[in-house]
Amino acid sequence: MSRKIIMFDTTLRDGEQVPGAKLNLPQKIEIAQQLKRLNVDIIEAGFPASSAGDFQSVQEIARSVGDSVSITALARAVQKDIDAVYESIKLAQDPLIHIVLGTSNIHVEKKFNRSKDAVMQMGVDAVKYAKTLLPQVQYSTEDASRSDFEYLWSTIEAVVKAGATVINVPDTVGYAVPEEFGDLIRRINDRLKNLNDKVILSVHCHNDLGMATANTLSAIKNGAQKVECTVNGLGERAGNTSLEEVVMGLKVRENFYNAHTDIKTTELLRTSRLVSHLTGLDVQVNKAITGENAFAHSSGIHQDGLLKDKRVYEIMSPEEVGAESMELILTARSGRHAFKNAVEKMGFDTSDAEDFEQLFDKFLTLADAKKEVYDHDVFYLVTEHRQLDASSKHLYELESFQVVSGDRNPTATVELRMGAETVKGSAVGDGPIDALYSVIKTLTGLDVQLKDYKINSLSRGKEAVGRVNIRIEHDGKIYSGRAMDTDIIKASAVAFLNGINAVLLDVANNK
Ligand code: KIV
Ligand code: ZN
Repeated sequence: MSRKIIMFDTTLRDGEQVPGAKLNLPQKIEIAQQLKRLNVDIIEAGFPASSAGDFQSVQEIARSVGDSVSITALARAVQKDIDAVYESIKLAQDPLIHIVLGTSNIHVEKKFNRSKDAVMQMGVDAVKYAKTLLPQVQYSTEDASRSDFEYLWSTIEAVVKAGATVINVPDTVGYAVPEEFGDLIRRINDRLKNLNDKVILSVHCHNDLGMATANTLSAIKNGAQKVECTVNGLGERAGNTSLEEVVMGLKVRENFYNAHTDIKTTELLRTSRLVSHLTGLDVQVNKAITGENAFAHSSGIHQDGLLKDKRVYEIMSPEEVGAESMELILTARSGRHAFKNAVEKMGFDTSDAEDFEQLFDKFLTLADAKKEVYDHDVFYLVTEHRQLDASSKHLYELESFQVVSGDRNPTATVELRMGAETVKGSAVGDGPIDALYSVIKTLTGLDVQLKDYKINSLSRGKEAVGRVNIRIEHDGKIYSGRAMDTDIIKASAVAFLNGINAVLLDVANNK
């Protein structure tokens, strides 16, 4: 019988560790709600001991989506971290404490500078303490794939005896290869079954050698019952295992793996786009499952074959991952009902009447400028609108702007609003965007460096919308900002301001 694989999503923890992918609270909740729709089994909502802001987000996620999906958060093997996890997730229906501690020689010697026995004892004490708070405790043997097997096993045995209910085996640095990692999981699984067959065996892979999905699938073939993934493979360095690849790998090749997930695959594309838009990290066009070209066939031979029978060149249909009905076209005359329908069809909540009216006004402005509004546009309109934090009184808004371009002294004049206050100024730059950013920097008084500026045309249609993504550095940290508009200068200004607002929110959260 096909085994159910438990899907643990760590987009909001490991995924959010990517420089510049910092999300604010409403954005995290939007993603958590979508993960719930996608039907993941467990959401890792953050690392609450890392900052007051992270603690609050984990708590809000536990409160808002923790009624039907299990919620966890990460702790190092110390009481203060475990307390922070417990306090932030305790309101969820099915909370799980996740503890991490290294098992490889390099981690034990360089990170902790203690004996192996002393590090193992730290893990055991941490699990025993966590068990006084909650029944479900996951223990991650960090850098397991580079660990001495007998020490790794002794650690697993000790923490299982101390009460761990899930053992997670991470390939923390993306060093493993599929045959070897599968073998490691098979050996652990054989022993674990004898020790306590109720304990769940899990894996967590990184993609440094491009093998995270292959390693994860190999682990499943060899007995792993739970896998940790992120949407779009987001994560530290080259990223984590991509959720959509594992899910569709199991679905399309269930005959080989004899395993399945409960993921609602028709939500995959929408989830991928939401995460990409809110983090500002584009999905590569040829990315498996969710890339723009994942289902595009351009060669004549392929097109001819497809016309005869789709199965000639298609192993899965675009509809299975939710690619259908991307063609809805709205105009300014479509009206509230049609717009509401389109927004709800994308999975967004419209129950807040005041919020919906604001959204509808923005839709009318866009429809006036653009004439034809596609699904894509509606999607970005909503996610853009929801990006603004409720505490936006302490954030900057663009009140007005004027930019004069040309080969002599490009100039920008900008007026900004923060709450009831407005400030106005002008600057000259090397070009119109340089002038714009220079005046905004002066007006906000924030020391930021522009690291990256990207502009894309978002949708089809005659008057395409421009989306601008920027990355800025402040105090050694990277922040991102994005905005879309039919006017690319305005999108550039708002994206930069959104980046500055991200700095202000981060500074306020960490005070
Ligand atoms: O990569 C890693 O080892 C981790 C652990 C916290 C599971 O992210
Ligand atoms: Zn990781």
